[in-house]
Amino acid sequence: MILGICGSPRKQATDYVLHEALKMLEDKGFETEFFGVRGKNISPCRHCDYCLREKECIMKDDMYELYPLIKEARGIIMATPVYNGGLSAQLKAVMDRCRALGAAEYDFLRYKVGMAVAVGGDRIGGQELAVQQIITFYILEGAVPISGGAFGANLGANFWSQDTLKGVKEDKEGFRSLRKTVKKFAAFLEKFEVKE
Ligand SMILES: Cc1cc2nc3c(=O)[nH]c(=O)nc-3n(C[C@H](O)[C@H](O)[C@H](O)COP(=O)(O)O)c2cc1C
Repeated sequence: MILGICGSPRKQATDYVLHEALKMLEDKGFETEFFGVRGKNISPCRHCDYCLREKECIMKDDMYELYPLIKEARGIIMATPVYNGGLSAQLKAVMDRCRALGAAEYDFLRYKVGMAVAVGGDRIGGQELAVQQIITFYILEGAVPISGGAFGANLGANFWSQDTLKGVKEDKEGFRSLRKTVKKFAAFLEKFEVKE
């Protein structure tokens, strides 16, 4: 299963492009799941170290809906709106709360495949750093980060929304970067016969 995690608190541009990415993968025969932070209660990590002792997070909030999906997924797409030149606080909270998964199973993300999507209101608003923050999380946790490659995508999928859903739908270059990255992501998974 391929899991899309949307780091926007709104059903707007990031939600839209992530669903488009998941549709592309479904067309290629992959099973997908979507999880969005919108309307969810996901507190930031408190660094209380309860998870290191008890192998679970002390905060019984909506991360408990996401934990089993992350464990099950073979591939993950993290999509974030760009906030202050980087990823959203909501997506960062998700990443930090994965400490509890790592406490229970050190290699919880190892050998899974990850790709990144960033959606900024400005044309050059910090998408590249946001993508790198997602890729850094994958590397730290042992997942394989997938880039879209040169000539159209580079490190991942980057969108210029002009702060509207209409704007992101009109971003041809953004969709080119998405198609290229999804293609590489799917090709990697197929090479290792990961369809379930
Ligand atoms: C708190 C905040 C900070 C933002 N900072 C940036 C920024 O640094 N660069 C940028 O390009 N857009 C910035 N934006 C605009 C959003 O990235 C943009 O509107 C994006 O499309 C939002 O995604 P969504 O429609 O999925 O919610 C910011 C928006 C908010 C709410």
